[in-house]
Amino acid sequence: MRIRQNGSTIRIDCPAKLNLYLDILSRRSDGYHELETLMVPITIFDTLIFSANRSGRIQLRCRHGHGRDSATTGSAGDLPHGMDNIVLKAAEQMRQGADSSAGLLVTLVKRIPSAAGLGGASSDAAATLMATNRLWSRGLDESQLADEAARLGSDVPFFLGSGAAVCRGRGENITRLGTIPRLHMVVVKPPVGLSTPTVFQRCTPTGGMGKLPALLAAAEQSNVSRFTGLFCNQLQPAADQLSPWIARLRNAFDQTDVLAHQMTGSGSSYFGVCRHASHARRVANQIRSARLGTVYATTTMTKHYRNN
Ligand code: C5P
Repeated sequence: MRIRQNGSTIRIDCPAKLNLYLDILSRRSDGYHELETLMVPITIFDTLIFSANRSGRIQLRCRHGHGRDSATTGSAGDLPHGMDNIVLKAAEQMRQGADSSAGLLVTLVKRIPSAAGLGGASSDAAATLMATNRLWSRGLDESQLADEAARLGSDVPFFLGSGAAVCRGRGENITRLGTIPRLHMVVVKPPVGLSTPTVFQRCTPTGGMGKLPALLAAAEQSNVSRFTGLFCNQLQPAADQLSPWIARLRNAFDQTDVLAHQMTGSGSSYFGVCRHASHARRVANQIRSARLGTVYATTTMTKHYRNN
């Protein structure tokens, strides 16, 4: 996250993520799945601008990439609605315990595609927790914020920190990693998204593939070909059964010379790993000509931003 504060206004650029490794260990009795995943932030960002006020109301304005604006309001008796209501949920959650006149106007510039396995909504939610914690002087520490994040969604705690992390449990148990090799990626969001619960319902737990130690050792040694050779996503077979786009994207990337390619999260986005920035631009153009959706050339983020 890049956080800039100017008085009662905070602006946050919050990143998308990719799952480089995703293993589904088992189905849990609470309906969730026990998983082991290596997630890394990438340089596709939503921007949120938070302005604190004394109205006692929380308002969200959403500006989409294609220029369509929408506004939605959340306060007692006025249920949040709309595609990005996790922002309203996060703010409402933080308002409990804040001053009763605490109000907020949130402007969300949405660039991360939804229903894409890129974690956009989770990243927006984490940004909202961090901003309201400051603006409303809630004073929650890291572990309290992580608890609030886990209540909002399994991927939200990951976005409270920076850089790559191994996430376990339902995704909320985070182990931050030191530097891992910076990778140049081509990410494609096909025209049709996938529902996370539906993909999880359809998946077959592996009992644990156990490849994570080798993956992390390769990362530590900066052995990029071994590292990328161990990438996998155990949700991909289920997504493949639910959407023809996954096979289309796999076939398209098979025609390229990327180091590895796979789906991210529960889909429907798909990514290929390139050797360097100009390789990524070339592969992006090749994939663009196949007209399989929106194509991004991006890199993984290992940098820690200095925030004010
Ligand atoms: O935690 P979150 O609300 O983001 O999860 C959305 C849905 O994804 C859950 O309701 C569940 O169906 C599925 N899920 C799962 N196991 C996980 C994470 C999510 O089954 N570890």
